[in-house]
Amino acid sequence: MNVAIAFHSKTGSTEKAALVIKEQLEKNGHSVTFLRLAPEKELKAYQYKKNGKELKLKDSISDVKKFDLIVVGTPIWSFCPTPIVLSYLRGLKNTSGKKFALFATCTALPGTSIQRMGSILTTKGARILTSLTIKSIFPLDEKKLSEARRFADSLEKIGKA
Ligand SMILES: Cc1cc2nc3c(=O)[nH]c(=O)nc-3n(C[C@H](O)[C@H](O)[C@H](O)COP(=O)(O)O)c2cc1C
Repeated sequence: MNVAIAFHSKTGSTEKAALVIKEQLEKNGHSVTFLRLAPEKELKAYQYKKNGKELKLKDSISDVKKFDLIVVGTPIWSFCPTPIVLSYLRGLKNTSGKKFALFATCTALPGTSIQRMGSILTTKGARILTSLTIKSIFPLDEKKLSEARRFADSLEKIGKA
């Protein structure tokens, strides 16, 4: 599969999980485009408008036409996906019929973040195949990262569906 992994990470945990997913997919023979999402202007978390509307991102690939599967990862901020990820999802093009897998990292309380990401995407005609929420109050250790590895392995089967 030709896979895109797009994620936002402020303090590194979501990036760590994204890297494990990337390495595992590559190990399984897939081609991966790794997309770090970032705002044009970095602010403190509380300074962003929570819904991410009107938030401009640094250049990223917003047209997903060439990908078989798009994996999107977010930290949880106040029970929500970050405004950066919400802005990215809203700006995606050619999502109709595309397969997505979603993941989040948080300390304990993700709220309905995955559903929220999913509803933006399904409104745009995309299919959500699976999701993962990694919860940890500590930096992600090998045990937590193995959840990301299993998630990547599961994408192999699901992606063929
Ligand atoms: C502003 C802010 C708000 C947060 N809100 C939540 C929350 O509502 N629920 C939760 O479980 N974790 C929350 N967290 C913790 C982060 O989701 C968690 O540390 C995440 O793994 C950070 O990802 P990153 O290192 O990729 O930025 C919050 C962190 C920050 C900085």
